[in-house]
Amino acid sequence: KYAQDGPEAKEIAQYLPYFPFKGIPRFYDIGGFLYEPAIFQKIVDIFVERYSVLQIDVIAGLDARGFVLGPPIALALKKPFVMMRKAGKMPNTICSDDYKTEYGNRSGMTLQKDKITEGQRVLIIDDLVATGGTLSSAISLVKMLKGTVVECACVVELKMFVDPPADSGLPSRTKLFKD
Ligand code: PRP
Ligand code: MG
Repeated sequence: KYAQDGPEAKEIAQYLPYFPFKGIPRFYDIGGFLYEPAIFQKIVDIFVERYSVLQIDVIAGLDARGFVLGPPIALALKKPFVMMRKAGKMPNTICSDDYKTEYGNRSGMTLQKDKITEGQRVLIIDDLVATGGTLSSAISLVKMLKGTVVECACVVELKMFVDPPADSGLPSRTKLFKD
């Protein structure tokens, strides 16, 4: 909504080529806009404007960079914030299946069992969507607890992964989200 590859996109997230390893064409560094309060505030405001008119019960943020963006949005909307963490970090959890990301295979994501109850409407926040593997595991956690995912929201979308080349071994994000 805010920027598509124009000057504002550079303002939001600068990228480094080939980080953290050579197979990754662009690493988007959100450390840039977090250091600029006016831009960080603008980003939070865009999300708050959208989600203040949708009925949201719980905001879930993804380990690690979703933990930076989720809490200011949750506080502004006066809604609970819950952490979806990499495995082995929290007690009393459910765990998603292992999943694939732009960077390779990952063990399941976890969520504390008592943090979402049946019928609650959940907003999932992360910094970036590439293949969609991480968000898909987050969606599966909400479904396990019989919640409803209203939307998944990120600051950066890597469009090259909507339908990656067949020989890349990566799943189609279009198909992943349809499933
Ligand atoms: C990065 C990014 C997203 C995910 C997107 O997380 O923050 O969460 O990859 O990739 P995908 O759409 O292919 O799943 P990562 O776990 O690498 O790093 P972080 O712990 O710094 O968030
Ligand atoms: Mg992440």
